[in-house]
Amino acid sequence: MSATIINGKELAHKLKAEMSKEVAQMKANGIVPHLTVILIGDNPASKSYVNGKRKASTETGISSEVIELPVSTTESELLKQIDQLNNDEAVHGILVQLPLPDHIDEQHIIEAISPEKDVDGFHPVNIGRMMTGQDTFLPCTPFGILTMLKSFDVEIEGKHAVIVGRSNIVGKPVGQLLLNENATVTYCHSRTESLLDYTRSADILIAAIGKPHFIKAEHLKKGAVVIDVGINRQEDGKLTGDVDFDGVLDKVSYITPVPRGVGPMTITMLLKNTIKAAKGLAE
Ligand code: GUN
Repeated sequence: MSATIINGKELAHKLKAEMSKEVAQMKANGIVPHLTVILIGDNPASKSYVNGKRKASTETGISSEVIELPVSTTESELLKQIDQLNNDEAVHGILVQLPLPDHIDEQHIIEAISPEKDVDGFHPVNIGRMMTGQDTFLPCTPFGILTMLKSFDVEIEGKHAVIVGRSNIVGKPVGQLLLNENATVTYCHSRTESLLDYTRSADILIAAIGKPHFIKAEHLKKGAVVIDVGINRQEDGKLTGDVDFDGVLDKVSYITPVPRGVGPMTITMLLKNTIKAAKGLAE
């Protein structure tokens, strides 16, 4: 079987070109979509993600700013900063890059961001809206995965989607989005017994584990669709996924590579959410 590679970088490029036109039109009507990112401390991975977000915003014509705060920033200082941004009409989207230093309660921060500016889709109000199938900001990685599946006409309705990983950012919400599309969803995680029994019956397998090459050919049914959310840095500095890409390629029908798979789509969906936020304010 020859697998189709779902190239997230190419799809992201196409979507960004479409969004650039939309942003130009909004600017002509006097609305400049604006994203503010808060970065605390100097975690190199976070810095790199934030740079990617800023670069993609600029490419699309979205105005963005990064507020860099020292690792010593207190929770109340951060809350004050968020409050200012919530009340600033020129700011449409607010994103606080995670993880935060241990002395700051992540949930307090997520819940302080106005749900109308929560372009990450992490606020409980937006999670609730997503769960009840309402139009809202969807978390960027799950939204990117759904967009990839739909763009490649992968059938979701009635299919068995197995999610390996249950994080609040990826695993839980991607399962919900697939359920909203009428998939039958199974969640697996580090305590799951007999993992293979589940993964081998997956029509669509989402790997969001954080362990390089964890998913191998033996985990998969022939013809499965595999979405690899893993971003693991190898000893040689190269990025690799949670799936043994070369080992499963002959067995799957569709697969996302790492890099150039889910990653570029995550950033693209952030831009989509920022445009949505700017439109919301304009109405
Ligand atoms: N850290 C890793 N992924 C994300 C994300 O999607 N949003 C935020 N805010 N922080 C992250």
